[in-house]
Formats: sequence, structure tokens, C-alpha cells
Amino acid sequence: MLTLAEIAEEPLVLTHHLDLSSGARVVFRPLTHADCERLACFLEGLSPESRRLSTFGGYGIVAARELCDAIARYDKLRLVLEEVPSSRIVGLLELGLALTPSDIARYGEAGIDLTELTDCRFGPTLADDYQGRGVGTLALPLIRDVARRLGRTRIILWGGVLADNARAIRYYEKNGFRPVGAFVGTNGSLSLDMMLDLRPMP
Ligand SMILES: CC(C)(COP(=O)(O)OP(=O)(O)OC[C@H]1O[C@@H](n2cnc3c(N)ncnc32)[C@H](O)[C@@H]1OP(=O)(O)O)[C@@H](O)C(=O)NCCC(=O)NCCS
Repeated sequence: MLTLAEIAEEPLVLTHHLDLSSGARVVFRPLTHADCERLACFLEGLSPESRRLSTFGGYGIVAARELCDAIARYDKLRLVLEEVPSSRIVGLLELGLALTPSDIARYGEAGIDLTELTDCRFGPTLADDYQGRGVGTLALPLIRDVARRLGRTRIILWGGVLADNARAIRYYEKNGFRPVGAFVGTNGSLSLDMMLDLRPMP
């Protein structure tokens, strides 16, 4: 089973090329310390609507530095999509390997016992000009593979998905996530929990 330290030491173990239907190409790879400024550009470039749909602690160099400083230090793996040949970061795909008490409580109410070592959380964010082009769907098999290599058998949504985020809900549904329940978040917005089971069907 891969560890976060091994990935940080050898990011190539999770590096792949994705060819988009437009003919463009992006690289899927772990975030590295060298990405700090490019990640800041990605965060700064997110529109107010994207920031509403996918919330980060900040949208500039300070937040980018925090994310890069966290590499292999905590329980999170961050992957980026890098445009070729510009090297611009056009997507940030986050996998959280620890569960929160509120995740565990909400899923428990829905009759699902989350398990710290075999469940993980997923949160994708694409640059505005990369949304709705099928990139998220192309990247999902790679995310599934990464999760499996980290010993995970189920993926839940990181903080749920806002109930009015129709594109994201369609994206999750068409890629095998099933709705689990609804909840009102700390900001008063209705969100949905969804889960993807990576185990083969019996
Ligand atoms: C959510 C996100 C990662 C999905 O990735 P993506 O590459 O845009 O998704 P895809 O293009 O692969 O699939 C989107 C699907 O939604 C459909 N769609 C697009 N806009 C839609 C809308 N307004 N309502 C319903 N469906 C919509 C697309 O047609 C496509 O479905 P189809 O293939 O059946 O036609 C990306 O859009 C994103 O980063 N959004 C902003 C941040 C965000 O919402 N993150 C998720 C937080 S939970």
C-alpha cells in the first residue's frame, strides 16, 4: 500500500497524461513544493461562483503555501491537473484520508458506518475555463486508482455537494456516486452527501 511519504518522495508513481477531446493534454500528478506560485495563480483565478461551490481557506499565495507545506505532513493528498505545454495548474483534486466526527455522524444516521482506514473524502475543483469539458470525468478513474492504492474502498464527498450545484451532482452521479442524505451546512446551505463504492459488485 502506498504512503503519503512515498508519493511525496516519488510523485511519478501517480503521474499520468490525460488527452482531452479537444486535443489538449493535461498531466495528472501529485502537488509538489515547486507548485506554490502556480497553485496561487490557480486559486486567484477561481471566479466567485467557483469559490462558492468549492471553498478554500484562501485564494492567494498564503493559502497556496499552506497547501504545499502540508504535503506528506497531514492526512491529505492533493493532486493537480497541469496544462501542457503552459504548465498552468487547471485543477486541484483533494483526497482526505481522515474522517470528521460530523461525517461519521451524518453517514451513521443514513445507516452507513464510515471506517477511518478504508474510507476517504474527495473534493475536486477545476479552473473555470476547464469546467464542463469532461476533464473531471477523465480524471476520476485515476482518483479511484489512487484511492485503492492508499488502501481505500469507498470515497465520500469532502463536505458534501451544495444542493444547487447541478453540474457537480450530475458529474458525481454519472461517475457512480450514489446519494446518501442531505444536511444543512454551517453556512445554512443545503448540501448532499454522496458515496462511491470501489469494491467489485458481488
Ligand atoms: C464539479 C467538477 C469537478 C466536474 O468536473 P467537469 O469536468 O466539469 O465535469 P464533466 O464535464 O466531466 O461532467 C459534467 C456533467 O454535468 C453536466 N452539466 C453541466 N452543466 C450542468 C448543469 N447546469 N446542470 C446539470 N448538468 C450539467 C454535463 O453535461 C456533464 O454531464 P454529461 O456528460 O452527461 O453531459 C467541475 O465542474 C468543477 O470544478 N466545478 C466547480 C467546483 C465544484 O463545483 N466542485 C465540486 C464541489 S462538491
